[in-house]
Amino acid sequence: MNSTIQKNFPYKKYVIDSNLQYFKPHSTKIEKSFADEVSSSLNRSSKFIHPKFFYDKKGSELFEKICELPEYYPTRTEIKILKKLQSELPPYLDDSFRLVELGSGSSVKTRLLLDIFARFQDETEYFPIDISEILTESSELLLRDYENLSITGIIDTYEGGLEFIEKYDNKKNLIIFLGSSFGNFTPDDGKIFLQKISSFMKKDDLFLIGLDLVKDKETLEKAYDDSQGITAKFNLNVLSRINDELDADFNLENFKHLANYNAKDQRIEMYLKSLVTQSIIVGKSNLSLQLHQGELIHTEHSHKYTLPQIENLMDTTGFEIKHIWLDDDKNYSLTLASKTEL
Ligand code: TRP
Repeated sequence: MNSTIQKNFPYKKYVIDSNLQYFKPHSTKIEKSFADEVSSSLNRSSKFIHPKFFYDKKGSELFEKICELPEYYPTRTEIKILKKLQSELPPYLDDSFRLVELGSGSSVKTRLLLDIFARFQDETEYFPIDISEILTESSELLLRDYENLSITGIIDTYEGGLEFIEKYDNKKNLIIFLGSSFGNFTPDDGKIFLQKISSFMKKDDLFLIGLDLVKDKETLEKAYDDSQGITAKFNLNVLSRINDELDADFNLENFKHLANYNAKDQRIEMYLKSLVTQSIIVGKSNLSLQLHQGELIHTEHSHKYTLPQIENLMDTTGFEIKHIWLDDDKNYSLTLASKTEL
C-alpha cells in the first residue's frame, strides 16, 4: 500500500534495506503533542509529567541499565519465565504468526521470543512499536544476528501503532507487552488500553502481557530506588529532555527522585521533588512555572497485581486467558490471552 498518499494514514515510510523498514508519523504530530502535554500537565496544582516521555535515547539507555540492577528483579524474573516459554509457547502458535512488540524493550527478551518463532518458522516478521527512535538501532542489532528476519518498526504511541497494524494486513499477530509497563497505567486507563488492544485484535491474534505481582514494601522500594542512583538519574532525565526539546531551564540539582510504595493502592509512586522554591520557563510550551520547596512532580505509578486481579482484569477487557506463567517465587507473571469470541 502506498502509505504516504493516504489521508487517514499519516505515516511516512522509510525503507532502509530489503529486511528493514520503518514508519513514522509526520513529525509535526509528535512535536506538538509533547509540548502540549507538558504544558497542560505542569500547569495545574498537582503537577505531572507523563512517563512515556522518559524514553528518549538517553532515557532508554538508562532504563536498560535499570534492568540490569541487582535490586530491579522484574526484568531478570521475566527473562527466567520467557526461557520456560521456549517449550511452552509454541503449542499456541503456528507458521502464520508475526511478532508485534509494544516497546522495543530489552533486546534480550525480544531475542528470546524470536528464538521461539525460529523453532517453527523459516522467516519471521517482527513489528516493534516504540515512541523512541532507539527502535532503529535495536532493529539493526537484531538483523545482525537473525538471518531470516524482516523488521517493520513503527515509531509512534502504542495505540497509534496498533491501529496501524490493524489496517496494515491480515496476518496473525502475537502482540507482546512486557516489562510490567502496563503497571504504569492507572487501573482505569489500563482497562481502556486493554479494551483497545482486544478491539484491534483479530480472532486468531494472541496477546502476551507481563505483570508484576504484589509483594513486600522493602523489596519494591529498593527496586525503584537503587543504591547506585541509576533510577534517580532516569527519573531526572525527563527534565533534561524537556530542557533540550522544549527550551526549558530546569536545574536538575534542584530536584530529588522519590519512590514510595502505597500498599492500599498497590503501587510504587515516583516523584521529582523540588528542593527549593523556584521558577522555570518551558519555552515551547509557553509556560512559566512556579514550584515551592517540597512540591512534588508526579512522574510514574507502577501498579502491582494479584492473580485474581489479573484474571478479573483480562476478563473485563475482552480477553480469554489461555495460560498464566509465574516464576518459582511468585514474584512476576506472564499471561497469554486471545480475544473473547462474541
Ligand atoms: N515499567 C517499569 C516499571 O514500572 C518502569 C520503571 C522502572 C520506572 N523503574 C522506574 C519508571 C523508575 C520510572 C522510574 O517497573
